[in-house]
Amino acid sequence: MSADRRDGFRSEIREAGDPPEATARVVDAAGTEDERVVEAALRPRRLAEFPGQPRVRDQLGLVLEAARRRGTPPDHVLLSGPPGLGKTTLAMIVAAELERPIRVTSGPAIQHAGDLAAVLSSLDEGEVLFLDEIHRMSRSAEEMLYLAMEDFRVDVVVGKGPGATAIPLELPPFTVVGATTRAGLLPAPLRDRFGFTGHLDFYETTDLVTILHRSAGLLGVDADEPGITEVAGRSRGTPRIANRLLRRVRDWAQVHGEGHVDHHAAREALALFDVDDAGLDRLDRAVLQALCRRFGGGPVGLSTLAVSVGEEADTVETVAEPYLVREGYMSRTPRGRAATARAWQHLGLTPPVDAPQQAALPLADDGPGRLEG
Ligand SMILES: Nc1ncnc2c1ncn2[C@@H]1O[C@H](COP(=O)(O)OP(=O)(O)O)[C@@H](O)[C@H]1O
Ligand SMILES: [Mg+2]
Repeated sequence: MSADRRDGFRSEIREAGDPPEATARVVDAAGTEDERVVEAALRPRRLAEFPGQPRVRDQLGLVLEAARRRGTPPDHVLLSGPPGLGKTTLAMIVAAELERPIRVTSGPAIQHAGDLAAVLSSLDEGEVLFLDEIHRMSRSAEEMLYLAMEDFRVDVVVGKGPGATAIPLELPPFTVVGATTRAGLLPAPLRDRFGFTGHLDFYETTDLVTILHRSAGLLGVDADEPGITEVAGRSRGTPRIANRLLRRVRDWAQVHGEGHVDHHAAREALALFDVDDAGLDRLDRAVLQALCRRFGGGPVGLSTLAVSVGEEADTVETVAEPYLVREGYMSRTPRGRAATARAWQHLGLTPPVDAPQQAALPLADDGPGRLEG
């Protein structure tokens, strides 16, 4: 590891209580308004234009086609997986394939059952209701939702106190598409109401290459194959990150050259934005640094680890961890998170000789959040 990289690492390990500046990194899940506009413009509109996720795509395609032939709304659909993999995109595609309107809302926007009742009672027959971050809905709304999903009925409470009465209101059949980064947090009764669950996984580099060629075309970016391949290989298997890095490389190319995205421009721009050769970003490296340097490789509890990198536990768990586990940099053990040999190697550090050997647990869909806090 070179001296300047070591300095970079040191500045990433901040004391507990420092402002969580890692949230400003280039790979953030939530973007600015401009970002959202660009993202919307880059979304594939139909299943046939959606690269990657072959299993989910084929299964969903079958569910939708069968429903279309029957002339009835399909089963409710739950999409789970880390941020930026295409959950919102697929929800839009469901409505487009069914040629139905889509109503968009999210768990945090539904704080009271009444908020949900208002949305449900205004749905048209066959409409698609997209509930983003569905795991963040209030308990009372959750209960109302699963009754509505099963029986197409809501009980509207009229009046207050002892005189209050519940008037059942019939709803036309509709389809809920729920999206969540934390399927494990959904109560079982709600999860069971979804007839189809698609778990999105990180993309292969070849799929990201396809996605980037398409994005470059839509954005009018002049990019060659080596440039695209370099960006694709360093995007953490995530289309949102790939698209965002492509725009930063384009910026670099416009300032430093003729605006042509090639291998050199990609390498320079990615270095500038702290994306390392393996595609790990600042938060990823901060997590590994903390694990190895501060906790001797672990195991360490999630919340302790999160505090030491100045992030919310939820961010570490849903944004950084899935990719680090999947790429074999860290493991989830019964006693906490632990660094693997690959993490030490990646940081250019030597693991302690007495490093405990931890049995890794699989990162199951419903695993996160269950082990310890
Ligand atoms: N399979 C895909 N093909 C092309 N672009 C994709 C794909 N999946 C996601 N994207 C792009 O990545 C960005 C984030 O996707 P989104 O559906 O909002 O992710 P999520 O809702 O899972 O966080 C969007 O701009 C979208 O265009
Ligand atoms: Mg989304």
